Amino acid sequence: MKLNTKWWSWWWMVSVVAVLFISMSQPVTSQKIDRNNTMIRWYCSYYRGMNGQVFLENLNTTLSSLRKQLSRVNNYHVVSKTVINGESVYGQALCRAHLSTAECLSCFDSAVSYLKVCGMGNGAHVFYDDCDLRYENKNFYNDAIMKTSTIAICGNTTSSHPKEQKKTASGLLSDLRTAVPRIPSYFAASTRQITGTNETVYAIAQCGRNISQSMCADCLKIRFGLLDNCLPSTSGKAIDDGCFMRYSEIPFFQANQTTDITSFLTHGTTVILLQVLFLL
Ligand SMILES: *[C@@H]1O[C@H](CO)[C@@H](O)[C@H](O)[C@H]1NC(C)=O
Ligand SMILES: *[C@@H]1O[C@H](CO)[C@@H](O)[C@H](O)[C@H]1NC(C)=O
Ligand SMILES: *[C@@H]1O[C@H](CO)[C@@H](O)[C@H](O)[C@H]1NC(C)=O
Ligand SMILES: *[C@@H]1O[C@H](CO)[C@@H](O)[C@H](O)[C@H]1NC(C)=O
Ligand SMILES: *[C@@H]1O[C@H](CO)[C@@H](O)[C@H](O)[C@H]1NC(C)=O
Ligand SMILES: *[C@@H]1O[C@H](CO)[C@@H](O)[C@H](O)[C@H]1NC(C)=O
Repeated sequence: MKLNTKWWSWWWMVSVVAVLFISMSQPVTSQKIDRNNTMIRWYCSYYRGMNGQVFLENLNTTLSSLRKQLSRVNNYHVVSKTVINGESVYGQALCRAHLSTAECLSCFDSAVSYLKVCGMGNGAHVFYDDCDLRYENKNFYNDAIMKTSTIAICGNTTSSHPKEQKKTASGLLSDLRTAVPRIPSYFAASTRQITGTNETVYAIAQCGRNISQSMCADCLKIRFGLLDNCLPSTSGKAIDDGCFMRYSEIPFFQANQTTDITSFLTHGTTVILLQVLFLL
């Protein structure tokens, strides 16, 4: 859409689209969900702490604090730092917000075990479907977009309704990318039935809580572009330092865990409609 389109006609279109979404949304029946938690990518720093023993103690303190915080209900983004005897360990864990506390902790524990491969390296990052865990010797909490790589993993099965799926899934992912930076929890799960079929696309988007709204939007914009290129594959996931996006035709969350994103797409519609009527 061109930026120089008159503002009121743009909002008019947004409103019409919003009404269409509301009339298109369909209830989804409860079914078996995919609880596989695949490790997606990991990284270790080559640099070691100055004092190995102190580093390992501080790492242990940081990880224990993260775990303790995650064990509180509805705590999906946690940070902790330990700076003792000159070794600093900043840590951050992020669980997808549709998980139960137990599922989140289980992913965190897998991540902690996995990162043992990094040994004395003073930085590490691992991504799973369900969570990310990272630690560094400096504050990285505002990092959003990796400088070196943009990562998407596309499934290798093509949808049985490629054309319709591409359209539906692309619309859903685009809406998530618009809505999530405006949602206080920075997370949404949403579904959409593929036009003319009985199949549904399930998708989530999430930003880390310590990045700004505009960074969240920028980060999800890149994730959206990468996943849009996966379509019409039946599944895809895209990761970065500050955000995460995933979609699949196989359900990976319950129907009652979806977020109503419509109100976050139609920001200020009522006021604008009145203004449009006034202009007419
Ligand atoms: C989950 O993992 C198992 C074992 O790797 C695999 O057989 C199954 O197809 C996976 N389920 C989904 C929905 O991907
Ligand atoms: C920290 O150390 C204690 C005692 O050695 C151990 O029981 C615990 O599992 C460690 N925590 C982590 C997160 O590695
Ligand atoms: C593609 O999918 C098949 C069946 O699910 C699997 O066996 C194979 O490993 C996958 N290939 C890649 C490259 O992911
Ligand atoms: C959807 O499912 C119902 C019942 O399972 C079936 O009767 C109908 O033909 C299906 N529609 C399409 C478009 O596949
Ligand atoms: C970073 O995130 C943590 C945990 O969500 C929160 O307690 C803290 O206030 C945040 N800090 C900033 C500067 O946003
Ligand atoms: C959501 O649905 C699942 C399975 O259908 C059910 O076990 C769970 O209690 C429901 N949760 C809420 C909050 O309604």
